[in-house]
Amino acid sequence: MRIGILGAGQMARALGGGWAAAGHEIVVGARTSAAAAAAAAEIGPSARPGTIAEAASFGDATLLAVPVPALDEILTAHREAFADRILIDCTNAFAPDTGGFGLSEPAVAERISASAPGARVVKAFNLLAAEVWAGPNREFEGRPLTVALCGDDAAAVAAVAGLAEDLKLRPVPAGGLSRARYLEATAAFVVGLWFAGHDARAMFPPLESAFAVPDDSEGLPMSRE
Ligand SMILES: NC(=O)c1ccc[n+]([C@@H]2O[C@H](COP(=O)([O-])OP(=O)(O)OC[C@H]3O[C@@H](n4cnc5c(N)ncnc54)[C@H](OP(=O)(O)O)[C@@H]3O)[C@@H](O)[C@H]2O)c1
Repeated sequence: MRIGILGAGQMARALGGGWAAAGHEIVVGARTSAAAAAAAAEIGPSARPGTIAEAASFGDATLLAVPVPALDEILTAHREAFADRILIDCTNAFAPDTGGFGLSEPAVAERISASAPGARVVKAFNLLAAEVWAGPNREFEGRPLTVALCGDDAAAVAAVAGLAEDLKLRPVPAGGLSRARYLEATAAFVVGLWFAGHDARAMFPPLESAFAVPDDSEGLPMSRE
């Protein structure tokens, strides 16, 4: 796949590096050519540097790897380029590094979708740190590392699921874009726990111990509300 990445920071490098290693062609767009060149060099030989505009109009899918406050400017400037494009939203509306664990807005992915008509928005990869996405561990305590995906466009969700598999992750389609706000709130909640030194994982028993799971191996359909 051809993937444009907006932003040249930690998430751009973590996800872009994995996708480049899996054979995808990448244009990484940044505000300065030096930042784009440094990120592309780190991502790998199948990545090349570009401007934000070049990355926004490159290929089949675009990763938004910028801070939430940057989205307005980017969505306004590149709205037309995003029409019909898969937009992968990994953003979080909180800033843990500066001690902020409250969301500055409740539903970023839905706002992106409303601001970019025709874009096929998929929320994904916001829950874990860039170091985890870039790291070697894909199983913890026998459980495969899983990435939840929320989006309304089934083909776009399937494409991003494929990109998750390319990172050796287990994708789980987790409902429509209206559920992305819960994924965003979960990130703020869980990251707050981790930063406070608590083991958030210990709050979640394995599926078989969570409650009475239906015998039907298909389970119940995922809610879209
Ligand atoms: N880091 C993580 O572990 C992690 C995990 C999950 C989700 N996220 C989310 O992923 C997103 C990116 O995080 P990150 O850690 O990769 O951030 P980062 O390392 O700080 O990189 C952010 C990138 O966005 C660029 N940028 C900032 N404002 C911009 C604007 N107005 N127009 C264009 N580009 C702009 C920055 O460019 P300059 O250098 O020019 O400022 C930089 O290249 C954030 O929304 C964050 O909440 C991060």
